Amino acid sequence: MKDIARQRLGINVEAMDLLNSQIKMEAHASATYLAMASWCEQNGFFTSAKFFYAQTEEERGHMMKIFKFLVDVGGNPISPEIGNINHDYASIVDVFETTLDHEIAVTKSIHNIVIKARSLGDITTERFLDWFVLEQVEEENTIRDILDMIEVTGTEGVGQQMIDNQINNWID
Ligand code: FEO
Repeated sequence: MKDIARQRLGINVEAMDLLNSQIKMEAHASATYLAMASWCEQNGFFTSAKFFYAQTEEERGHMMKIFKFLVDVGGNPISPEIGNINHDYASIVDVFETTLDHEIAVTKSIHNIVIKARSLGDITTERFLDWFVLEQVEEENTIRDILDMIEVTGTEGVGQQMIDNQINNWID
């Protein structure tokens, strides 16, 4: 990026670089949830597939929210290259446990950017990320509730299909 453009940037340049990494992380999450939808479709978990179709859209929404913020502050949002999408899961439990791992990683990443923005005195970026901090509370809570339901239902016999049916409770 040219120096003159960096001077016109409304946020700290280090924060912008971190937000570009976050764009990539959200895009990776979106692609991962689409792969999970594919796995669910192929393994007969049709309600869970619907859940992941919604999640993939949500993550793209998160990505675009950051992208547009960088546009608004005169930055240089980067359309991310993503690869390495896992399509292979051992079970429906594995799918949701992996989802929780992803969400925890996203939360940590957002918190790190908030901490960095604060240390840089970049109030604009810090305030922008408020929404994401609270969104992550909701997302982690949803997946933890689903994992609790899975534990109570159990995976023996018709358990797996019962799990799938109950996922409907978490589809808006
Ligand atoms: Fe955008 Fe679920 O992290």
